[in-house]
Amino acid sequence: MANLKKFIASKLYPLATYHPLKLSEPAKTIDIKTAWKGLELIIEDILIQFEIGRDNCIEFGVEFGFSSVVFSNYFKQVKGIDIFIGDEHTEEKGDHYEKTKNSLIAFENIELIKSDYRDWIKNDQTMYDFAHVDIVHNYKETYECGYWAAMHSKCCIFHDTESFPAVRKAVYDIAKNTGKKVYNYPFHNGLGIIV
Ligand SMILES: C[S@@+](CC[C@H](N)C(=O)[O-])C[C@H]1O[C@@H](n2cnc3c(N)ncnc32)[C@H](O)[C@@H]1O
Repeated sequence: MANLKKFIASKLYPLATYHPLKLSEPAKTIDIKTAWKGLELIIEDILIQFEIGRDNCIEFGVEFGFSSVVFSNYFKQVKGIDIFIGDEHTEEKGDHYEKTKNSLIAFENIELIKSDYRDWIKNDQTMYDFAHVDIVHNYKETYECGYWAAMHSKCCIFHDTESFPAVRKAVYDIAKNTGKKVYNYPFHNGLGIIV
């Protein structure tokens, strides 16, 4: 049933496939279990192919910080926004702010902010080089946070376009409603790319 839903979503919300030219391992990563593993190999390729600047990056959905650390290799500043209590789709449900903060202490260019994306986007008018959305994988939240992120960045990526049809639909709709281009990398649960 879940596979049928994914198949239908791929037909209803077609996204051009992203083809990396070169896979590269970031110099620094952290060893934790995450569904994001594997995507670190294409981040530099995305930055090169779309000629994205390397100053600032914002991430919504940090959890234990795997993706934040990947971005810290490429940007001068990385902001990570998370409620740090998990959500209906994560295994972790307790408060993990201190745990994540302590394990990222060595990465001085990562700033963690304990906030709901809804509160954060009310007050931030910054234009970012790069944004990442990996929060609760529902349509409403992904669309709302992702629309803001796409409008406030040159390139915005979204995790779980393959594993959550709601995320794929949100990415498809955000690209349509912002008039931006969209691609999908169909591995490691899927990565939507809006530029
Ligand atoms: C799938 S995890 C992120 C995984 C992470 N990107 C990684 O590299 O492993 C999703 C995170 O989104 C956070 N989250 C869920 N809803 C949120 C919201 N409304 N605002 C901010 N963060 C939220 C959860 O607390 C959780 O830590």
